[in-house]
Amino acid sequence: MIELPDVRGKISIENHPSMLPMSDTTERTATAFANPNIAFIKYWGNRDHELRIPASGSISMNLAGLETRTRVRFDSNLSADTLTLNGQPAAEAARARVARLLDRVREMAGTRARAEVVSANNFPTAAGIASSASAYAALALAASAAAGLALDEPALSRLARTGSGSACRSVPGGFVEWQAGTTHEDSYAFSIAPPDHWHLVDCVAVVSTRHKTTGSTHGHALAPTSPLQAARLEDAPRRLDICRQAILERDFEAFAEVVELDSNLMHAVMMTSSPRLLYWLPATLAVMRAVERWRAEGLSACYTIDAGPNVHVICLHEHHPEIVHRLKAIPGVEQVLTATPGGAARLLDEPAASNNPRSLQNLPGQYLRS
Ligand code: DP6
Repeated sequence: MIELPDVRGKISIENHPSMLPMSDTTERTATAFANPNIAFIKYWGNRDHELRIPASGSISMNLAGLETRTRVRFDSNLSADTLTLNGQPAAEAARARVARLLDRVREMAGTRARAEVVSANNFPTAAGIASSASAYAALALAASAAAGLALDEPALSRLARTGSGSACRSVPGGFVEWQAGTTHEDSYAFSIAPPDHWHLVDCVAVVSTRHKTTGSTHGHALAPTSPLQAARLEDAPRRLDICRQAILERDFEAFAEVVELDSNLMHAVMMTSSPRLLYWLPATLAVMRAVERWRAEGLSACYTIDAGPNVHVICLHEHHPEIVHRLKAIPGVEQVLTATPGGAARLLDEPAASNNPRSLQNLPGQYLRS
């Protein structure tokens, strides 16, 4: 594996397609790796849907151990972009969404070559971990590198954002803030602390592996229909300040309070949008209640929930064996996944022997613990 070279501060070539043109006869391949992330202060609602400029900023932590690997091969002999996901040809909607990001890359690199994209996750898609974040972070890095572009971290984050908003936060490492911005240029994510800054563990209580009926993209569009969204957005800068400060000072009490508040506010908006989105199941609420009790007993744990019924229980590392043990005892909790703070998206140095797309299936380990 090679680290993504530190090109911070160098001039972004994002707007200078002539700098590194890719000849249409070139065949180029690159493979990248990215972790998904869990948001502590959530992204819900867009100022610009097309570019995924969010209505407010957000803060997250990358999830080590859970990963997407994506290989992109540009080839001028291809007549269309192709996408293989976890060993299967992807559905047309997923392929077309990936092709839109590739179009941006082609425009920047000055090429018309189509690409073969092969991507695999080492975590089950149905476990309710947002795979679009790691997917589009890995895709942005692999596609731009394969096209000969050397994008700096903000430029990569912007590119990943256009594929899936939360993906911009999987580009930098550790604890990450996405500054909302108002334009494509100023809406990107950066690291606020490295992975080893705070030994938190995300214990994901999986209460359902059924595919959700309303995905995030549609949910973001519904957010403004809730009369609560304006109040949620107005208070967002305050919550971002508290969360950022709590992370920097490793203040778990302040962190827990603002993380639960922010999750509850997002779900209040979801539940009151039109049509309403109610993602919780009875076991979701059972975990929320239990976590509140455990914290009152002195365990450092809090909950946060994305657009689904599964509960992310964030806790201090020393408390995680006890938390996992207790979560497994709650009726309705099917399995518990754990993840520690993860690093930045990076390029992988693949040996030539792994040119077979199937080799992407040989990912290290499974992280499912039941
Ligand atoms: C609830 O980034 O998945 O997980 O931009 O449409 O792909 P798209 O949405 P997405 O939304 C994430 C929503 C969330 C909160 C968060 O991760 O901040």
